[in-house]
Amino acid sequence: MSWRSARFGAAASPRRCRSTTMGTPTTLTSFGPGKVILLGEHAAVYGYPVLAAPLSWGVTAHGFPGRRCELRIPPQVRGAGRKLLAAAFDRAASACGRPKVSVAVESDLPVSMGLGSSAALSVACARLLLQAAGKSAGAREVVRVAGEMEREFHGRPSGVDHTCSAFGKLILFRKKPGSRASIRAIESRRPVRILVTLVGRRSPTRETVAALKERQARWPARYRRLFREVGRVADEGASAVAQGDVNALGDAMNVNQGLLSGLGLSSDAIDQMVHRLRRMGALGAKLTGAGGDGGAVIGLFLEPEPAMARLTREGIRCFSSHVAGPRAL
Ligand code: PMV
Repeated sequence: MSWRSARFGAAASPRRCRSTTMGTPTTLTSFGPGKVILLGEHAAVYGYPVLAAPLSWGVTAHGFPGRRCELRIPPQVRGAGRKLLAAAFDRAASACGRPKVSVAVESDLPVSMGLGSSAALSVACARLLLQAAGKSAGAREVVRVAGEMEREFHGRPSGVDHTCSAFGKLILFRKKPGSRASIRAIESRRPVRILVTLVGRRSPTRETVAALKERQARWPARYRRLFREVGRVADEGASAVAQGDVNALGDAMNVNQGLLSGLGLSSDAIDQMVHRLRRMGALGAKLTGAGGDGGAVIGLFLEPEPAMARLTREGIRCFSSHVAGPRAL
């Protein structure tokens, strides 16, 4: 199917993918949201459930008719990073039959802080490539193509990041080794609002996951017990959200943070912010994503604005996001 005659109707929302025809040529735009893991990171890699929610921030991809299928990588991205991006995009391009589209991306997500920036990029590109190729761009197809890119970025990710981004919903995700992922959308009766703060620096997810794998391989029984408990807390948290019990969700987040700390995934900077957010009234607070030395720390608040204003005044990078449920009570 040619570029012009590509069908663009499968987009689930205007921000997800739209075509703009201002005379010619036709351009395409698609969006991949970032994500926060409310409960269950790392244990997810070992087949346990994980509760993840999309953010309103993410990556936007713009596609223009081109002579070949290419990603326009900004010149400031050099060396290994450039090669990795090109290789990841190439995998997605192959999976879509290489439509003749030139893709430019822009992001409003902090990179490498546990907010799913690579997954958001993968989803934005996958959705756009599928659309440009005239293929269905439903969430499951997007997950398949974005998964190609994520495997290039992260080796063997659980898949929760790009699945959450592609569905754009709060999901309980589980991928047991050797079987297909199960994805359950969780409807919340009450608004779920979080404050996201960014602390310190962190290593790439791949390294944090690998270091944990080494510890787990040395002491498998102990780590299995902890992973199992993380998975149970994620299940309980999902039920709490469905019942509108935000206090129970907050408690699950606090317990999950203790378990993550036991798994060796927290740090001084993270712990300090977790305690700070709790003192400021968070119902629950924990690291989100891979953790390690730093990264994103989230607090569950009924009203995050006062805490956000205070932290912003102190120069701490933070933002709030509605992640599930009705927007107002
Ligand atoms: O890359 P991050 O920081 O968003 O973390 C992803 C979540 C992990 O559970 C640590 C890894 C995975 O593949 O699920």
